[in-house]
Amino acid sequence: MVHYEVFLSPPHQAGTEAALIQEALASNYVAPAGPMLDRFEREFSEYVGMPCVAVSSGTAALHLALRHLDVGPGDQVWAATLTFIGSIAPALYQRAQPVFLDCEAASWTLDPELLSEALRTAARAGRRPKAIIPTDLYGQSCDLDAIIQVSADYGVPVICDSAEAVGTRYKGRPAGKGARAAAYSFNGNKIITSSGGGILASDDPKLITRARKWATQAREPAPHYEHLEVGYNYRLSNISAAIGCAQLQVLEERVARRRAIFERYRAVLGDLPGITFMPELDHGGSRATRWLTVILIDPMVTGVDREAVRLALEREAIEARPVWKPMHLQPVFRHAPHIGGTVAETLFETGLCLPSGSGMSDAEVDRVAEVVGQCLAAGEAVLGASLSK
Ligand SMILES: Cc1ncc(COP(=O)(O)O)c(C=O)c1O
Repeated sequence: MVHYEVFLSPPHQAGTEAALIQEALASNYVAPAGPMLDRFEREFSEYVGMPCVAVSSGTAALHLALRHLDVGPGDQVWAATLTFIGSIAPALYQRAQPVFLDCEAASWTLDPELLSEALRTAARAGRRPKAIIPTDLYGQSCDLDAIIQVSADYGVPVICDSAEAVGTRYKGRPAGKGARAAAYSFNGNKIITSSGGGILASDDPKLITRARKWATQAREPAPHYEHLEVGYNYRLSNISAAIGCAQLQVLEERVARRRAIFERYRAVLGDLPGITFMPELDHGGSRATRWLTVILIDPMVTGVDREAVRLALEREAIEARPVWKPMHLQPVFRHAPHIGGTVAETLFETGLCLPSGSGMSDAEVDRVAEVVGQCLAAGEAVLGASLSK
């Protein structure tokens, strides 16, 4: 195991967590119910402007949404291939078949034009998906309105995977709002954390009511334990919610810091030949959080590939990671259909996520940038030598 000194995206405490945990303990709601859980839901609900239910993970939130849509065996669920497995695993829990679509180069998120074409073809063949799951990637919203519009033409609901987009804005509204439902993650690596947890939000209160029931073992309102159906033990703990409440108070500061870290990296590395940064799409009133700063390294220009840079950082005890390996390249999904080109594959081959934790000091950011710069300089020298031969 590597002992990192600089992590990719570690938790960054607000300072009020201990007091709120203490308050939760004093209430004796050391359980997946209680005042902190209610408060976390209420405050996040106000933040995103939708009714919410807080659960144990973003993955659980997506699972509940798919169940609400009655996704089941034989159904297809279409998803962005450039994502984390938590985005699509719930489709498998429901025994549906995943289909992966490529992303657009301009945003690295699900390509609405490709989706439109694919839906036309699928409708002609009489095989529409039961749900579409775009992913808001690394703090950048997908072009949700375009995706919803295209999907609505074919009557297919959109569940937005906004796990990485707490704090992100799209056309002046919180990421995910406008979809049938949106799932957010508070995993330890996210922009704010509850030490692990998720929230499902939707403008449809019925969806949230059903999800809340399923998340608590589908208990009927009876003093004894009465069950008409089977649910899950998915509710968030009141103690975790206390951490979530503390973190929610500093969300805007965290976004500002992540964006400042991105700008600092860009100031040092932005002009280097062969290096590009993840683009930020502004649909008018949009704001990426830059949850992670991601660079692309063109080995033909720099003389080094992203793996060489990652290893150079690792030697300095700095954690960096390749861009998500696309789902259609994952052995577990080798039989799943893939629609589109190779945008996601290229991003995986050349993309590197740099340490972006909001707790990083400027000196740490500069150190990371320096190691990347040194690695590129070495690559340039090798490239120069081979060209002069
Ligand atoms: C894109 C994406 N989808 C889904 C998830 C799942 O969230 P969780 O880890 O809270 O289950 C994550 C993060 O972990 C994610 O990054």
